[in-house]
Amino acid sequence: MSTRPATELFSEWATKNKDEGMERGHAASVKAMLDLALPRVNKPYSAVDVGCGNGWVCRALESHETCLRAVGVDGSEAMIEKAKALGDGEFHLAVLPQWKPATAFDFLHSMEFLYYLHDPAAMLKIIHDEWLKDAGVMVAGVDHYLENEDSHGWPEALNVHMTMLSEAQWKDAMIAAGFTDVEMHRVAAKDGFIGTLVMIGTKASN
Ligand SMILES: C[S@@+](CC[C@H](N)C(=O)[O-])C[C@H]1O[C@@H](n2cnc3c(N)ncnc32)[C@H](O)[C@@H]1O
Repeated sequence: MSTRPATELFSEWATKNKDEGMERGHAASVKAMLDLALPRVNKPYSAVDVGCGNGWVCRALESHETCLRAVGVDGSEAMIEKAKALGDGEFHLAVLPQWKPATAFDFLHSMEFLYYLHDPAAMLKIIHDEWLKDAGVMVAGVDHYLENEDSHGWPEALNVHMTMLSEAQWKDAMIAAGFTDVEMHRVAAKDGFIGTLVMIGTKASN
């Protein structure tokens, strides 16, 4: 049986309000990711959340005094409808990697999105080259990765494509994309969960 698009699955989740549980489930990892990455970002800053779901991280960033604007992008129609209904932020319905933003950002955040792509390494390069300003910072978190054995069954269970890379492969992909000062972390580990794998990098200034 062929897999179905992740965006279709997540529209179903949004319709059943499962985005709310996902928001709660990801909160500790995202807090740790922002604590690690934001000190690197020049202030004031513009931000984008890629694979933003219902837009909750954009709303959190907008509450920061130094955040000028926080834009959300997601390919799920129901998630974007929800994001627009929950606030007056800027949200785009767009399937990636095809869509490109009109302007580049100082900060890019992405939680549990990259591995739904067939070629996440190519997306990292596009983010580096086209989504970030010089000195811009990217932080991304993934829970589906080689070392997290509990995640290996997810593609079959959900009938959705996921690209599984090891921590070393994600790091290599960040470096190959052109990021400098690449750091890898595992955050929010608990009860047998080995933690969200977090990658952080900076686009060098020319
Ligand atoms: C696991 S959810 C995470 C949502 C949000 N980041 C959060 O933490 O609550 C993954 C999101 O990525 C989106 N997504 C998956 N593949 C996509 C693609 N190719 N283009 C755009 N969005 C995509 C889904 O629609 C979904 O909202």
